[in-house]
Amino acid sequence: MKRTSDTITTCLSACLGLFVAACAGSDSDPGTDPDKEDVAYDEMSFGERAAYMDAVVLPHMKEIFVAFDAKFERMECKTCHGSGAANGTFAMPSAEVPPLPPPEEFEAYLEDPEHLRWTQFMADQVWPEMAKLLEQPTYDPETNPEGFSCSNCHTIKSGVN
Ligand code: HEC
Ligand code: HEC
Repeated sequence: MKRTSDTITTCLSACLGLFVAACAGSDSDPGTDPDKEDVAYDEMSFGERAAYMDAVVLPHMKEIFVAFDAKFERMECKTCHGSGAANGTFAMPSAEVPPLPPPEEFEAYLEDPEHLRWTQFMADQVWPEMAKLLEQPTYDPETNPEGFSCSNCHTIKSGVN
């Protein structure tokens, strides 16, 4: 546990602006998913994106979430999109996904074993799988600072108030 915790902490504090570092060895080769539609996500219209979410993203992500916790049997668009699912904007990140602390507070945040457990699940599975489904290269502070990261789904609490 301690060792894993250290690894994650190093990993997370390695980057300044955002949480995720090059720790996942992020190979992003999205071209091999058999479920994938022919049109690249970036090229899809809003409506095509919604259909892709329904047909591919939700079922796939639900499987991953349910393996982590059975309560996600009830996972739906709203789980990620919050009120954006009801008002039709589907804007992300969603303020209703629990906000994450800023990088300088993340180490302390991970001292809670529950936060650590969730963060491991997110970093190992949710983040890379979602990036793959959206065909987005993952965030890397050096090579891809604009890449897909935790903050595409989570808002970040502002540091000092
Ligand atoms: C596991 C989390 C997750 C679930 C579940 C999910 N989405 Fe998404 N959705 C995302 C992410 C992440 C994006 C891309 C955000 C970005 O571009 O940064 C997105 C993008 C979208 C977009 C495009 C928004 C835009 O501005 O282009 C639509 C539309 C959408 N989702 C609809 C849905 C619908 C409908 C469902 C349920 C059938 C759903 N989503 C379920 C995570 C999710
Ligand atoms: C595809 C969207 C998505 C991405 C990417 C993502 N998360 Fe999450 N995360 C969620 C959702 C949705 C939940 C809340 C599930 C629920 O309703 O309980 C969550 C929950 C969490 C929680 C639990 C918070 C709490 O207070 O219960 C933590 C911690 C967390 N995520 C950290 C991260 C970190 C760190 C990353 C990047 C490595 C990340 N997440 C990437 C969607 C995402």
